[in-house]
Amino acid sequence: MDILSFLLISLKLLFFFYEFAFAIDSISSSESIRDGGTTLVSVDGRFELGFFSPGSSKNRYVGIWYKKVPVKTVVWVANRINPINDSSGVLMINSTGSPVVVMRQNKTVVWSANSTKEAKSSVVLQLLNSGNLVLRYEQSSGDGLGSYLWQSFDYPCDKWLPDMKLGWDLKTGLERRLSSWKSPDDPSPGDFTWGVERQGNPEVVMWKGSNKFFRSGPWNGITFSGAQELMFNPVFELNFVNNEDELYLTFDLIDKSIFSIVVMNQTRYLRERLTWSETTQNWNVYSYVPRDYCDYYGLCGAYGKCITTQSPLCQCLEGFKPKSTGYKDWSEGCVRNEALNYSKLDEF
Ligand SMILES: *[C@@H]1O[C@H](CO)[C@@H](O)[C@H](O)[C@H]1NC(C)=O
Ligand SMILES: *[C@@H]1O[C@H](CO)[C@@H](O)[C@H](O)[C@H]1NC(C)=O
Ligand SMILES: *[C@@H]1O[C@H](CO)[C@@H](O)[C@H](O)[C@H]1NC(C)=O
Ligand SMILES: *[C@@H]1O[C@H](CO)[C@@H](O)[C@H](O)[C@H]1NC(C)=O
Ligand SMILES: *[C@@H]1O[C@H](CO)[C@@H](O)[C@H](O)[C@H]1NC(C)=O
Ligand SMILES: *[C@@H]1O[C@H](CO)[C@@H](O)[C@H](O)[C@H]1NC(C)=O
Repeated sequence: MDILSFLLISLKLLFFFYEFAFAIDSISSSESIRDGGTTLVSVDGRFELGFFSPGSSKNRYVGIWYKKVPVKTVVWVANRINPINDSSGVLMINSTGSPVVVMRQNKTVVWSANSTKEAKSSVVLQLLNSGNLVLRYEQSSGDGLGSYLWQSFDYPCDKWLPDMKLGWDLKTGLERRLSSWKSPDDPSPGDFTWGVERQGNPEVVMWKGSNKFFRSGPWNGITFSGAQELMFNPVFELNFVNNEDELYLTFDLIDKSIFSIVVMNQTRYLRERLTWSETTQNWNVYSYVPRDYCDYYGLCGAYGKCITTQSPLCQCLEGFKPKSTGYKDWSEGCVRNEALNYSKLDEF
């Protein structure tokens, strides 16, 4: 080995240790994360929290992204509806123990966590290996899910990560629903959302504004009846929990070393499952819904059926005709060809 490569290797090692020695995964009440300063990095180095600007925007937001993925993929945003227009932002724990994002310039609070429990002793804000940002007591170990005073997983943005609950805490009424970004430059909530519908037989539903857009059908113990593509696959497993306290859906990765997430894509009105490819260094679309045009909720309306291979896609059931004249709006569905004539039926 020549002296130059020896030096290079030594330098690399030095940087490696430097990174580890100085990366922190949590802050206490006396510490803060400043725009342009240090970031939080989860212990396993998978996730990073800091300030960022989305797309071509110059606004500053506090977000969490994959540290190891070269294509910046922001999985959660704190002040998504209230950006900062300069570099004076600070993330800190305020004097009563709530995580807040403050503008240094004029001391305006642009975001604060909705902590339901009041902190009774000193707390820390920690970025976990799961990508969950949690507020917990300093003494607690930080692995008991119930013991967090607050967690970012309770306030999803547009990405669904392993172990993140989609659905309801029935005791507190908290709903965890995904919502798309308005645009690649603006993380504020768009009109494309996905969550669990509480009433009746629970179903997982996507909404476009207040209109139902796509539903997966009821849970049959293994998958959702209307979403067969969710069944046997080598990448993830779904878990659906429905009891007195909670109603939610989560997913686990079968191979925990891969990165696989679900994204609400408002540009295409698709819910996409993306999987990171080390080979192409890009996110690949693993699956998406609606799968085909027939999956759109209510496309063919009452007494209509949808056939992907036919044109028009919508057909009426036997003995029915389109309600809307001229076949213009299939969502109005179909009506009987003629009023039932019981005297006629009597003849049979
Ligand atoms: C940020 O916005 C405030 C008020 O909207 C304005 O006074 C200020 O000049 C802006 N700062 C920058 C850096 O654009
Ligand atoms: C501080 O600046 C922000 C954004 O620039 C602005 O919205 C807010 O009104 C300002 N607050 C005060 C107290 O000046
Ligand atoms: C800390 O933030 C919480 C949540 O916004 C707020 O209720 C509380 O008043 C803040 N405490 C102080 C001292 O500003
Ligand atoms: C915080 O809680 C209040 C009251 O429960 C609610 O109206 C508000 O939407 C919550 N904010 C966030 C960001 O969840
Ligand atoms: C949505 O899909 C478009 C087109 O494939 C892509 O360019 C964009 O990055 C996607 N948006 C998100 C949030 O993944
Ligand atoms: C029902 O059928 C009978 C016998 O065919 C016919 O006389 C009658 O006009 C029909 N009524 C209606 C409402 O079509």
